[in-house]
Amino acid sequence: MITAKFLAPLILNRNVSLRIPYNTGAPDCLDRQSLCFWEQFDVESVLDTKLPSCTMTDLNRRTPNIEDRGEADYFHGREAILDDFKERMQSAEGDPRRGTTFLIQAAPGAGKTALLHECAQRGKARGWQVAEIDPDGLFDPVELSEALRIPTPDKRKETSGKINLKVVEKTVTSEHHMPKTVGILNSDQTPLLLLLDEAQDLRTSFFPRSKEFRIASKCLKAIHNGKLKRPVMLIAAGLGTTKEAFRELGVSRFKPNCYIELGRLRREAERAVIVDWLQLNGRAKGAPLLWADSIAADTHGWPQHVSAYAQVAARQVRADRRRMTPAGLQSVLAAGRVKRERFYKSRADGIDEHHRAAIAQAFVNVRGDHTQTRAAIMECLLQTGAEKSEAAAVFNHALQKGVLDHRNGRYIIPIPSMRVWFLDNYLIGYNKSAGTGRPDMPGKGETGPID
Ligand SMILES: Nc1ncnc2c1ncn2[C@@H]1O[C@H](COP(=O)(O)OP(=O)(O)OP(=O)(O)O)[C@@H](O)[C@H]1O
Ligand SMILES: [Mg+2]
Repeated sequence: MITAKFLAPLILNRNVSLRIPYNTGAPDCLDRQSLCFWEQFDVESVLDTKLPSCTMTDLNRRTPNIEDRGEADYFHGREAILDDFKERMQSAEGDPRRGTTFLIQAAPGAGKTALLHECAQRGKARGWQVAEIDPDGLFDPVELSEALRIPTPDKRKETSGKINLKVVEKTVTSEHHMPKTVGILNSDQTPLLLLLDEAQDLRTSFFPRSKEFRIASKCLKAIHNGKLKRPVMLIAAGLGTTKEAFRELGVSRFKPNCYIELGRLRREAERAVIVDWLQLNGRAKGAPLLWADSIAADTHGWPQHVSAYAQVAARQVRADRRRMTPAGLQSVLAAGRVKRERFYKSRADGIDEHHRAAIAQAFVNVRGDHTQTRAAIMECLLQTGAEKSEAAAVFNHALQKGVLDHRNGRYIIPIPSMRVWFLDNYLIGYNKSAGTGRPDMPGKGETGPID
């Protein structure tokens, strides 16, 4: 959502044009409610754009709070990534100039937040200070101070504590007008790990060329290029538009192994997660492999699904007094499928049914790696009678919600069973047996790299 906070400076400073909607079809981002509020500023004339009827409200809405998200109870896999991360921390400890950005990009439910949490644990274990920030923290000294749990600049002034604002400002001047947020990052010696989850929001948090954008960009570049006086690493995770958001903010080249496209879990890791849920949580008696493999046949290593099914399985086993019965397994699979469908519905939220059908249509005859061009998807959306701007807004929304994802200049519905869900539910006359790639047969590379 483009908030009042970001509109205000732009509206009050009429030198800045709001016809720079930052790649999200931003005029569509303004819902009618926000517009009412901003009517006093004559928003429409500033926008210089006829606002659409807002079928696409709140493009940047955070993922609704659904089950099976976040920190993992039984984390497995991702060893290579965690090793690379550890190496980077070691390197930065030796020389702050080796501070850097570690970027994880992936479709919804791939395990970004859980991985961020694992990295945070490793940072803490090495004595690093760990702080969660959001995009505001890159330009707003108060937000950043709060995230770092140090007195906010105003409070520093009042209490004239150890680090007072004048000192910070002096440092800033001598650092070629680096923003205050950079001064704050420099105000301690302890190695610092910054966590930025949902980092795709960077794209809609500032207008390009706005003051906030410039400050955030400088701050990001200072971290990324190791320009700080202490070891600082930023680990960011977000959906498929995140790397592009960093590029727009001036960070485009990542050190080796510091940009990761997270894929599904390897079979062994997937199995280990399910077995842990069954044995440690459900306290199952007997060999759990039949259950683990039956569940894995439905979940395809996709952490969101693995976690959803495994939690149900553990509950079932507890209810059956630690026994793993055939009837219990059938209940687990049925309940897991319901959860899986709920998850897909939440991803497709905000996309009208006929647009969902158009997206399904775009992927119906695509074989091989199941990727499609933007032009072909747009063409299907335009065939619904949508204006070009509306079709573009739907496309961007699908990208924001992870219904679509980038693959080498093309696009994919990133989870195999989600693609089949789209086809089964929205493609009238789709012949399931004709097979456009059932979920049990993911096309080559379609889920992105494994682990
Ligand atoms: N490597 C893992 N081992 C075990 N469980 C995992 C692993 N990765 C993720 N999970 C679990 O899978 C579920 C989805 O993971 P997570 O919430 O981290 O995904 P995400 O990519 O951040 O999703 P979103 O895009 O919705 O924010 C969570 O329950 C999480 O605990
Ligand atoms: Mg997440």
